[in-house]
Formats: sequence, C-alpha cells, structure tokens
Amino acid sequence: MDSAQTYWRDRALLEWQVELGATEAILDAPLDRYALETVKPAPKVAAPANAPSPTLPVPVETDAVGDATRAAESAGDLPALAAAMQAYDHCELKKGARSFVFSDGNPAARVMIVGEAPGREEDRAGKPFVGRAGQLLDRMLAAIDLGRAHEDPARAVYITNVLPWRPPSNRTPDAEEIAMMLPFLRRHIALADPDLVVVMGNTPCQALLGRAGITRLRGQWVEVLGKPCLPMFHPAYLLRNPIAKREAWADLLDLNARLKA
Ligand code: URA
Repeated sequence: MDSAQTYWRDRALLEWQVELGATEAILDAPLDRYALETVKPAPKVAAPANAPSPTLPVPVETDAVGDATRAAESAGDLPALAAAMQAYDHCELKKGARSFVFSDGNPAARVMIVGEAPGREEDRAGKPFVGRAGQLLDRMLAAIDLGRAHEDPARAVYITNVLPWRPPSNRTPDAEEIAMMLPFLRRHIALADPDLVVVMGNTPCQALLGRAGITRLRGQWVEVLGKPCLPMFHPAYLLRNPIAKREAWADLLDLNARLKA
C-alpha cells in the first residue's frame, strides 16, 4: 500500500470511529490488551477479629423504564410532560446535549409528526427539524398546504422526536435509549391527541410499531395508540436519496386525502 492509500485507509477508519461516537484519542499507538501479562489478585489477608466491618457500597437498583413510565403518567399536560422529561436523569444523552428539544408547531394540530432525535442544528436551536432535513420537511408539508406555523389550525402540524437529546455525532439511538424514552413519547401522543400520526424513518417505527424497515413500512397505514399512523421516509434519507422523493410525494398525497376524508 502506498502512502496515499494508507492515508485514505487511516482517514476512513478515523471517520468510522467518530461516527461511532469516539471523541478523544487516548493513546498515540494501539494497545494490545490481550498481550498484557495477567495481573494476579493480591492474596487475601484475614482481618483482625476486632476490626470494624467494612462499609460496602450498596448497589442501587435502577429501573429506567419504570421511572419513565411513572413520570410520564403523572404528567397531566404538555408543559408538565416537558418538565418531567427534563427532570429525568437515566438517559446519558442528556449530559452531552446542549438543549432539551421537546416539540415545535401547534399542539392542537390534527397531524403529529415523530422524528428520530435532534441533530446539531436542533441541539443549538432547542427546536426539532430546523436543519437541512427540517427545511426539506417544511417544503414537503407546504406542498400539501400544511405547516408548523400554519394560520389555519386545521392545516397545522405538531412535531416531536423519539429522543429529546442529541446523540453524539448524530448516531442512531440505541435500543436502551429508545425503550427508556418511549413512555414519554406515548404520553406525548396521548396528551397532544392528534387525528393522525406520521412516523419518519426507522427510529420512530422501531419505537412505536416495534419494527423497522422503512422501505417496506412506508406508505402503509397502521394503528398507533388507537390512531391512524403513516410511516414515511425521513427527510434526511430523502436528501441522500432524492429518487425516493417520488414515494414520499405519494405518501404526502395519501396523508392529505386522509385529512380531507
Ligand atoms: N432529524 C430528526 O429526526 N429530528 C430532528 O429534529 C432533526 C433531524
């Protein structure tokens, strides 16, 4: 391999690690921990008979999903739900995020859109879908006369995400993060009480329908919490695959027809 090839290989490996969430280089050279000598545990020395018994740390049982369920159920309205989510400490993403991103649009809207998680722009602004994908989403909605700030409440939308905190390097949320935030999302939908739910991309499908595979799921109405729900391609996917806009347009027309039915 010549030096240019080595450069591009190393660079691809580095980008892959950043994509996985690595934020810091710890050592200059790789460390083969298998090659290290096994450290033998120190021999146990019997404590003197009159020694005080050691204070052991008490293991704390955490029930992240149970705590989320109780917190979500005790929220009687959307501001209370936002406060309960902000007070919830089990999700590690909270520590690395700049903002808590709850929702945008009209909470009384007939259509509620559920995305994945805030990205960099959303983390900065404290609002969902404000970056490039969000701008495309706004244009898609405008094409069927919907909008988050539409003056006619009947044509307004309400937008949220599965997660309110940005995952590092925009990585896909993991199963544990989705599971612990799901009780809040379900309560969010129940409190907003839209007529129709639109789930954009695999993460909200996984959370609310229990399955992913958006290419097959999109365009097929299903039921979520007793409401008609339409899975659609995520606008970020459409930015990467403009050819799929054709299917997205068909789904938008279908959504519009449901609203007018
Ligand atoms: N992608 C999402 O799923 N949600 C956002 O808020 C922004 C980008």
